[in-house]
Amino acid sequence: MNILQIDDLHKSFRENDVISGLDLSVEENTIYGFIGSNGSGKTTTMKMVLGLLKQDAGQIHVNGEKVTFGHTATNRYIGFLPDVPEFYAYMNAEEYLKLCAEITDIRKSGQKERIDHLLALVGLQGVETRIKTYSRGMKQRLGIAQALINQPKLLICDEPTSALDPKGRREILNILQQIKGETTVIFSTHILTDVERICDKAGILYEGKIRKEIDLKKEALGEKGIVVELMPEEYEVLSGELPLERLDENKYRVTGLPIETVYRLLNTHKIYPDHLVRERKTLEDVYLEVTS
Ligand SMILES: Nc1ncnc2c1ncn2[C@@H]1O[C@H](COP(=O)(O)OP(=O)(O)OP(=O)(O)O)[C@@H](O)[C@H]1O
Ligand SMILES: [Mg+2]
Repeated sequence: MNILQIDDLHKSFRENDVISGLDLSVEENTIYGFIGSNGSGKTTTMKMVLGLLKQDAGQIHVNGEKVTFGHTATNRYIGFLPDVPEFYAYMNAEEYLKLCAEITDIRKSGQKERIDHLLALVGLQGVETRIKTYSRGMKQRLGIAQALINQPKLLICDEPTSALDPKGRREILNILQQIKGETTVIFSTHILTDVERICDKAGILYEGKIRKEIDLKKEALGEKGIVVELMPEEYEVLSGELPLERLDENKYRVTGLPIETVYRLLNTHKIYPDHLVRERKTLEDVYLEVTS
C-alpha cells in the first residue's frame, strides 16, 4: 500500500494557481525526494497533507485514510519537521523530547527508552546545553527526533538540509537513511545531490504538477552524450562530420548520435582515442530539461 496517495490536487491563492492537478504516491519504507524551486508549492502541498490548509479539489490519503482539512486524525501516522522548527529554547534536548512525549501520549514506561534511542539516533545524547545555544544543524537534528517521537509511519521534512553546511547536511541525510527501515520519508528540497544520495524515488514539481518522476534505484537517467578526447589534428578531421561540443582543451561531447555511428566514423578516419565514454545524465540535467 502507498503510505501517501495524492490524486488530482488543486490549490490557488486568488489567481495564483500554485497546485494544479498534482498526483503523487509514496510507497512504504522508501525515501521520496520532493523537488521544486522556491515558490513551486512544496510547503503548500505539505500543509494540505497535514490537513492544515484546505485544498480546492482533489484527494489525499495517508495510510489509506482520507485527509480532511481541520481534522487531524491522519496526523497520528505523521511526523513533521517544518522548514524552520521552533523549540522552547531554554530547555535542553532531553527535556524538550520529554515534553513532546508527554503531549503525544506515549506510555510512561516506554518514554525514557524512546527518548534515549532518539537522542542517540540524532547524535544529541549527553548534550546538556540549552537549545538556544544550538547550531542550525543541531536544531534540525532535534527537530527530526521530535518528529519521530510517536513512531510515525510517514516522516515529512520540509527542506531539512537547505540551510545547512555540507557536514550538517551529511548528518541529516545519514539519519534519514538510517530510519528508512522504520518509517517512510518524504522530504522537499532543491538540493539535487541530496536527492541523488539517499532517495529511492524523486518527483519534480513544476507549474503545479509532478512533471517527472524518477526511480533512482532502478533506472539510469538516460544518456547525455558520448565524451571523446581528440588531438587538435583529429578534431580538424572530424569536426565537419560530427557535432562536437568542446568541454575542455581536448575533450568533446557528441550528442544525438548512436555510439555505433561515432565508432564507425572514428574507424573510417583511423582515429582511436584514448578516452571515449558514454556520459549519463545527472538529476540536474533532467531537472533543467523539465523546468526550462
Ligand atoms: N497563505 C498564502 N497566501 C497567498 N499566497 C501563498 C500563501 N502560501 C503560499 N503562497 C504562494 O504560493 C506559492 C508557493 O509557495 P510555497 O511556500 O508552497 O512554495 P515552496 O515550494 O515551499 O517554496 P520555498 O522553496 O521558497 O519554501 C508562492 O507563490 C507563494 O507566494
Ligand atoms: Mg517551502
